[in-house]
Amino acid sequence: RIVVLDFGGQYNQLIARRIRDLGVYSELLSYRTTAEQLKEHLPKGIIFSGGPASVFREDAPQCDPAIFELGVPVLGICYGMQLMAQHYKAKVDRAPKREYGKAEIERTSDCTLFRSLQRRQTVWMSHRDVVIEPPEGFQVDARTESAPVAAMSDEKRKLYAVQFHPEVRHTVYGNEMLHKFVYDICGCSGNWNMKTFVDDTVAELRRHVGDRKVLCALSGGVDSSVVAALVHRAIGDQLTCMFVDHGLLRKGEADSVMDTFADQFDMNVVKVDARARFMNKLKGVTDPEEKRKVIGSEFIRVFEEEVARFGDHDFLAQGTLYTDVIESGTDTAETIKSHHNVGGLPEDMQFQLIEPLNSLFKDEVRRVGEELGLPETIVWRQPFPGPGLGIRVLGEVTEEKLAIVRESDAILREEVKRAGLDRDIWQYFTVLPDFRSVGVMGDSRTYDYTVGIRAVHSVDGMTADWARIPFDVLERISNRIVNEVDGVNRVVYDITSKPPATIEWE
Ligand code: XMP
Repeated sequence: RIVVLDFGGQYNQLIARRIRDLGVYSELLSYRTTAEQLKEHLPKGIIFSGGPASVFREDAPQCDPAIFELGVPVLGICYGMQLMAQHYKAKVDRAPKREYGKAEIERTSDCTLFRSLQRRQTVWMSHRDVVIEPPEGFQVDARTESAPVAAMSDEKRKLYAVQFHPEVRHTVYGNEMLHKFVYDICGCSGNWNMKTFVDDTVAELRRHVGDRKVLCALSGGVDSSVVAALVHRAIGDQLTCMFVDHGLLRKGEADSVMDTFADQFDMNVVKVDARARFMNKLKGVTDPEEKRKVIGSEFIRVFEEEVARFGDHDFLAQGTLYTDVIESGTDTAETIKSHHNVGGLPEDMQFQLIEPLNSLFKDEVRRVGEELGLPETIVWRQPFPGPGLGIRVLGEVTEEKLAIVRESDAILREEVKRAGLDRDIWQYFTVLPDFRSVGVMGDSRTYDYTVGIRAVHSVDGMTADWARIPFDVLERISNRIVNEVDGVNRVVYDITSKPPATIEWE
């Protein structure tokens, strides 16, 4: 395996990710990891990541200097290069301004990291400090117009450093460089894949949990489902899953969760029917933020009450992903927002957390899910907000309105799938605005609800573009909704992107 030491750069997890994609297991560890602790991970190579600090700052994160003496190949990237340069007493300077963006490097040696790659190539730079002269024993491998030492190495000691970011796609030969580092320099064998991830994690979970008991809150979403299946594979009946049905799920969802996990996978699943409680709390609440708060806090209350029954459980398994960890702040990365998974737990929890997916990205989690044999409907499930249909019924939530959203949404999903667009469109659902309009059906006037269709392309939900669903597919959806869902006489299609609109209507 390759260990990436995290100095807080925004691309750090991407480095580990790229290396995993090359078939070699890679994990990110804090820069505070000592040489002794590192040895336990048996790394074949170590990468020092980039980071926002300057090595000239007093409080700049430092690594344990003994790491350089482990005899394990090291690749320093950006800040990692400055650190290596500083450790070996190179001449480092602070440039008057940052170099940020694409740059052209010229290769000046034939070191293993660049062997047989183009002499001139485009790379991605993001730095301020520059190495002016390499340390003793190092050679200069590349330069740019503004950086006399854009890459350097001491091949005898297997120390390599680059000022640019090979993990970023704009670095045209970045992947080749990482490939050369892990295979040619570190001698990795490249037999890691999702199956080995599952096998290793299962072994690790067994060792860690022993004969104790684990509780897992199952929501039916991709992340919690994959965690449940993974932990179940490791410890079987020592796992209990808790599934809270708040009554705001989509059509058939609660049944499908029970079907998959309790029946097919034969897991212990405790279903908590909290539907009435939530409806009660939502009575008379019309403000969107207020609704979210009511649903969120009721969820935590139910969770706490139910969890109290599992006092003999030592662990709580959570589907926290790498992106959740990063958003909630790590050792080095700045906090963007507290994520529900990580920040919303009761404070006095008596459980130890187990988060076996916290080094993975979403698409890797889906591959783990496939490896574990989870059905496609779960593995490829579209994102679904925690407050569920509660924020898709605009205004006050009632059973009648929930039924309209649930039925129309089921029709939309069916038709999108039938048109072969279900993997193509990132998220699609119906909403029920809080108004009625006049229509005519048969020979009589109607005064019924309008259903809105929302369908967007997106990568991460931060921005989105409305999906161009073909008119004939829209026509079928509209016809079916008006004909099959009671209380609806009009269907509209939302053609706004995000921004300025958001994806959800509330
Ligand atoms: P918006 O409406 O903000 O949504 O454009 C962006 C993405 O986030 C989902 N979403 C939520 N997910 N809890 C969640 O877990 C929430 O409270 C929540 N609100 C919105 C939304 O479905 C979309 O994918």
